[in-house]
Amino acid sequence: MGSSENKPELIVNGKRLDGRAFDELRNIKIVSNVIKNADGSAYIEWGNNKILAGVYGPKEALPKHTGDPEKCVIKCRYQMAPFSSLEEHGRAGPNRRAIEISKVTKEVFENVVLLNQFPGNAIDLYIEVLQSDGGTRAAGITCAAVALATSGIPMRDIPFAVSVGKAGENLILDMNKIEDNYSQADVPICISPRTGEVLLLQMDGELTTDEFRRAVSMVQKAGETISRLQVQALKAPYERISEKYNQ
Ligand code: CDP
Repeated sequence: MGSSENKPELIVNGKRLDGRAFDELRNIKIVSNVIKNADGSAYIEWGNNKILAGVYGPKEALPKHTGDPEKCVIKCRYQMAPFSSLEEHGRAGPNRRAIEISKVTKEVFENVVLLNQFPGNAIDLYIEVLQSDGGTRAAGITCAAVALATSGIPMRDIPFAVSVGKAGENLILDMNKIEDNYSQADVPICISPRTGEVLLLQMDGELTTDEFRRAVSMVQKAGETISRLQVQALKAPYERISEKYNQ
């Protein structure tokens, strides 16, 4: 969230700067199985975000001390490419923000992957942000969920994530970067759609209890669309094969 100096109005004539309604998602396109040498992969375009996710494993956790004899461990690396934004360019190595996003993403998937089936093993999850425009942790989690599913790793569910913000008196779904920078709150939420369980909830700024409830229902509603797109991305390669053989 930015300072109030030179703060742009985020809502003009009842519309957001990019013309969206308050509860409208940006356009989302997901493609599964995009990296030949990964065990699982997916690519997402979410508004102006472009993100790749690659999965390797389960395989023996090395070095050994990083493993757990009782269960599989998930190692996650979220990173923004140096050319992904105007701010980040030229900077090498992980920063505090990337380490935090990697950690919360890993925790999301620890709740859905059946870890006890692979003791002593590790799953490597790489999230590469090629182009960023706000909401990359949510888009990265949504994409990584598809990548994990394509790898065949047993999972309880395919989680999705999206953030809600606050501009003036209004809650706005799925903020882009300018909205993210100048909103009064940014609340990314990840949900397991099958159970409704919340797997990630972060809050930058403040919401009232009533706003918080409304924010969660906006996310649940948007989740219907996001989940449908995830499932479509997973089915698409098989539908193409079946079309080919049914011609
Ligand atoms: O991407 P997300 O909204 O999950 O994370 P954020 O920390 O709220 O960052 C919001 C946006 O600011 C990112 O999506 C990027 O577009 C931009 N950003 C950047 O350009 N350089 C950074 N070092 C951090 C963020």
